[in-house]
Amino acid sequence: MTDASTAGLGFATRQLHAGIELDGAHRPRATPIYLTAGFVFDDFDQGHARFAGTDDGFSYTRVGNPTNAATERRIADLEGGIDALLVGSGQAAVVTTVLALVAAGDHIVSASSIYEGSRELLRDDLARLGVTTTFVAAQNDAAAWEAAIRPETKALFAESIPNPKNEVLDIATIAGVAHRHGLPLIVDNTLGTPYLVRPIEHGADIVVHSASKFLAGHGTVLGGVIVDGGTFAWDAAPDRFPQLAVERGLDGRTVVERAGRAAFLEHARHIALRFGPVPSPLNAFLILQGIETLSLRVQRQSATALRIARWLEEQPGVAAVDYSGLDSSPYRDLAARYLPDGQGSVFAVTLEGGTEAARTFTDALRLFTRMTHLGDVRSLVLHPATTTHVQREREELAAAGIGPGLLRLSIGLEEPDDLIADLDRALAAVAAADILTRAGIA
Ligand SMILES: Cc1ncc(COP(=O)(O)O)c(C=O)c1O
Repeated sequence: MTDASTAGLGFATRQLHAGIELDGAHRPRATPIYLTAGFVFDDFDQGHARFAGTDDGFSYTRVGNPTNAATERRIADLEGGIDALLVGSGQAAVVTTVLALVAAGDHIVSASSIYEGSRELLRDDLARLGVTTTFVAAQNDAAAWEAAIRPETKALFAESIPNPKNEVLDIATIAGVAHRHGLPLIVDNTLGTPYLVRPIEHGADIVVHSASKFLAGHGTVLGGVIVDGGTFAWDAAPDRFPQLAVERGLDGRTVVERAGRAAFLEHARHIALRFGPVPSPLNAFLILQGIETLSLRVQRQSATALRIARWLEEQPGVAAVDYSGLDSSPYRDLAARYLPDGQGSVFAVTLEGGTEAARTFTDALRLFTRMTHLGDVRSLVLHPATTTHVQREREELAAAGIGPGLLRLSIGLEEPDDLIADLDRALAAVAAADILTRAGIA
């Protein structure tokens, strides 16, 4: 296969072949890393044509680069979108998406279960620019989303599988709310991955990722991506999105008139080239290469996560395990509907004994890496209450069910028995510490 004609092919085939264009004199099979700031104009007129948009060749890497473009095409294909934009991090993907949709005075409605960095961005930084956000605590309660929408609302935002508690989003229900109000739904699918769930198939309009996680997969690079489903009618109420449907460019056309279904992504590209969160082509290559094994990694990670979650649930000293693949999970039915091929590798285990138990457990682990990251080939452990969620008030933590004994696990590709042995050792260390404390020795 030499091009992007992957229609009808399975996921594992497309993760290897989608988006690749074999061209050039040397015909390399792997996508070359075009580590160059810019591209040569053959003559005076070509330079003008590239700037005028009448020649779609590359000019400058902040505007576009062949390695980055191959990665974008592949991710768009896997997510079922019409186009994608690669940026320097997941944070850059979220902020670029929001900036493409809002102006001062506008409003966003978001699930409060989102990644803490995105939450702070919406709550603090965008609020300072006059864009406010209402957070919805019950992420699958349509009435709560409805009640939060205002005339100046421009988008709804949620994650397909928020961490640490693996609470599956009812994408179709929230997309229904958004569309009843003429609004797009943005879904952060970092933990879902396009292998497990493709939010656009369930009604989402825009998908974002931290490509630093499962897509790249090996904990080596940061990256982010925005995928446009091409489904939203941006000109249905033109005054709601004037930057897309009313304002005219030098050619006299609106973005919708120029780019049609891809209007949002065209505009997001414009925002990104102005603000400049461009990824290195080297990073784009590493993300592209990571994607080539995405299904294999996520399948195995999900299967191991389920096995470990079931095992943990049976252990003394464990107060709760939050994983939607478990029969005990309140998200079991949503997982069956949205995540039939696996529920991901990130979940929470709550130990009896609070922070002290969490500390003893974490420090006793030898294989699990203590690290603020997820979706890596290696297994990772983190204590949200004192790290990612440390800015949250005690009541907020309690409302989110993130107690002092809760640990986030991100399951990697190690031998499952070795991971269980490591967790067993850590639970034994907690039990031993508790015995010593009660005996007044420690
Ligand atoms: C769900 C989610 N979205 C976005 C981000 C931000 O991504 P990045 O760290 O690549 O900026 C993260 C990071 O942990 C995340 O977990």
